Amino acid sequence: MASYKRHSIPTIILHWLVALGMIGTATLGILVTSMERGPDQHTLMNIHKALGVLTLAFAVVRVIWRTREGKLESLGNMPRWQQIAAASTHGLLLFATLLIPISGLMISIGLGYSVTVFGLPFIPQTDLQIEWLSDLGYTLHGAAKYVLIAVVVAHAMAAIKHEVVNKDGTTLRMLGFGNKY
Ligand code: HEM
Ligand code: HEM
Repeated sequence: MASYKRHSIPTIILHWLVALGMIGTATLGILVTSMERGPDQHTLMNIHKALGVLTLAFAVVRVIWRTREGKLESLGNMPRWQQIAAASTHGLLLFATLLIPISGLMISIGLGYSVTVFGLPFIPQTDLQIEWLSDLGYTLHGAAKYVLIAVVVAHAMAAIKHEVVNKDGTTLRMLGFGNKY
């Protein structure tokens, strides 16, 4: 059994909160955009926006935590290209957790729509119509979903490979296992 240092509690909690938030919000977004306009679609869109804002809040805390704690050290003897691939994937995922919800907010702000988080006001309704902001938001929000899906699939496959092939504890470590030292 490999011996490795456990990840800190904030690293683990923030990873899974943001991961579930991103996957859940994206799934809801795809579902909502395929629905007919109507009250159900409107309610689900509001839930999508609220979950997106909450995920953004956790993602901001996580990025601050990552810069304070420093980069995670990789386990086992990964070749240099794999270390670069892992670091780039993690950087891209961290960036996506900020860019995707922010681009969603750009759509709402550009169209003058309010955003509430489960009843709490977050962005007020306005008369503003900032076309370039909503257009840019739409473009980024729509395009980012393909990048997100591709990178998350590659990331999850790498996590499975670490457990099944390398057996180095990388995935167990993100699930809270490991030693304290
Ligand atoms: C965790 C963060 C978020 C993720 C992963 C996410 C993901 C998505 C996805 C995958 C879609 C479907 C796009 C398509 O199929 O073309 C979508 C649609 C949409 N999202 Fe988000 N979203 C997030 C946060 C937000 C936030 C915070 C807002 C605004 C406050 C927002 C506003 C919208 C709007 C307005 C649409 C409909 C766009 C359209 O009609 O093409 N999203 N989102
Ligand atoms: C699909 C399920 C997922 C699994 C099984 C998974 C697994 C893992 C594992 C095992 C690590 C640790 C890598 C290491 O120690 O070197 C990790 C790190 C990371 N994961 Fe995931 N992950 C998943 C989903 C996601 C999602 C959806 C995101 C963001 C959109 C994400 C973003 C990250 C980031 C940024 C890191 C780097 C470490 C950090 O900054 O906390 N993961 N993931």
